[in-house]
Amino acid sequence: MHKHPLIVANWKMNTTLADAIIMTQAVKQGLEEKDDVKVVIAAPYVWLAPLAEKLAQQPIRQLSLASQDVSSFAKGAYTGEVAAFQLKDLVEYGIVGHSERVAHFFETPERTNQKLEQLLENQIMPIVCLGEEKKGKSGSVSDHLIAQAKIILKGLTLAQLSGIVLAYEPVWAISSHPGAEPAEGEYVGQVADRLVKSFPGVKVIYGGSVDSQNMAEFMHEEQIEGALVGQASLNVKEFLKIVEQV
Ligand code: PGA
Repeated sequence: MHKHPLIVANWKMNTTLADAIIMTQAVKQGLEEKDDVKVVIAAPYVWLAPLAEKLAQQPIRQLSLASQDVSSFAKGAYTGEVAAFQLKDLVEYGIVGHSERVAHFFETPERTNQKLEQLLENQIMPIVCLGEEKKGKSGSVSDHLIAQAKIILKGLTLAQLSGIVLAYEPVWAISSHPGAEPAEGEYVGQVADRLVKSFPGVKVIYGGSVDSQNMAEFMHEEQIEGALVGQASLNVKEFLKIVEQV
């Protein structure tokens, strides 16, 4: 398979505006010579407009922005929410269903499905996070995962599925999880194979304690086309080393 690697930096609720601008600029510089990769920065909502404005001054194809979430509603009286139509001029991608939304904000797969629809209606490419909570035997884990994915991806046409990014993120491997450890490449590869067979056309990336030391192990798996990087994306040098591995 010819891969089109996608590396997503999920900054979560970190960075000041000043830091966000400096970091984006540094990532951009690091990518200028590297045209075989797509890097997406998922910055906090409030930094998206100023970052989009900066990037628009001298855009490069390799770098764009993502939202970390989106409202499940189209528009109107939903205090505190941000709608997809408000994001569409700022971002190319949108993350939905992150396990931290599930753990802290009780997001259900049905709600994630509604958010996904909002993104698609507004031509924002979804990055859909999926992952089991506990480490288990691979067979049983992926059954649960496929069931979860079916709810989240419900109603999507084959054309809509094509190109959608599925970020396989086992919750136990995410650095914010107590005692987190990255999953093994081979296991991640098996899950990715199953996802690609069940949902033809999707692009699978891996997330969970990715760093410059383990990135190559994941990219070695045929169906893994990139990574969603949390903690390690906050250090631009380390992040660019991860990008070098693809
Ligand atoms: P991590 O986060 O790389 O810090 O484990 C990944 C994520 O939460 O998306």
